[in-house]
Amino acid sequence: MKRTAVLISGRGSNLGAILSRASPHATVALVVSNRADAGGLEIARRSGVEAVTILHAGRAREDHERDVLGALRRHRIEIVCLAGYMRVLTGGFVDAFGGPILNIHPSLLPAFPGVRAQKQAIDAGVRWTGVTVHFVDAGLDSGPILLQEPVSVNADDTEETLSARMLAVEHRLYPRALDIVASGAYERRGRVIILRAS
Ligand code: GRF
Repeated sequence: MKRTAVLISGRGSNLGAILSRASPHATVALVVSNRADAGGLEIARRSGVEAVTILHAGRAREDHERDVLGALRRHRIEIVCLAGYMRVLTGGFVDAFGGPILNIHPSLLPAFPGVRAQKQAIDAGVRWTGVTVHFVDAGLDSGPILLQEPVSVNADDTEETLSARMLAVEHRLYPRALDIVASGAYERRGRVIILRAS
């Protein structure tokens, strides 16, 4: 069982999905929030998962990251899942952690990185967008892609309706992605991730 931490900033519905579709190869041992009012903290508590708040406001990025890294080490975390974590991690953090860090993003990357990806897709007039789970590197939503699934954009979609349809896909994809990584059912060739049968 790979000890996994989920990093959140808000609602935590992807955290909830990961907890309710538990992987036989991973256990969520820690939830870290950078905001005290993140709804996901309550989801963690209800599931009996240790949850800590490490506030970033008013602090140097490096100091905040050092504290997060300390918490990951204390809990012997091997895999990190970013789930609505609204902070870009530095290359220093990614290197220092050393293990896989996953992120879920509501677009078919490399299209529409950054915030409000669903609105970006609607504004661009694309017919298809989707969900990506990728490894985190020092860039913004730029690491190697693990899983993707398309979602259609309907003519009458608003940011809210599209986001709601995407969320259902996110909740299916993220637990699967964590299981693939925890079971080691993949191979990395540069930027390309090859999936193996688990
Ligand atoms: C999701 O849409 C995720 O793709 C994005 O932020 C949102 C987080 O939602 N990165 P939740 O906190 O998991 O409910």
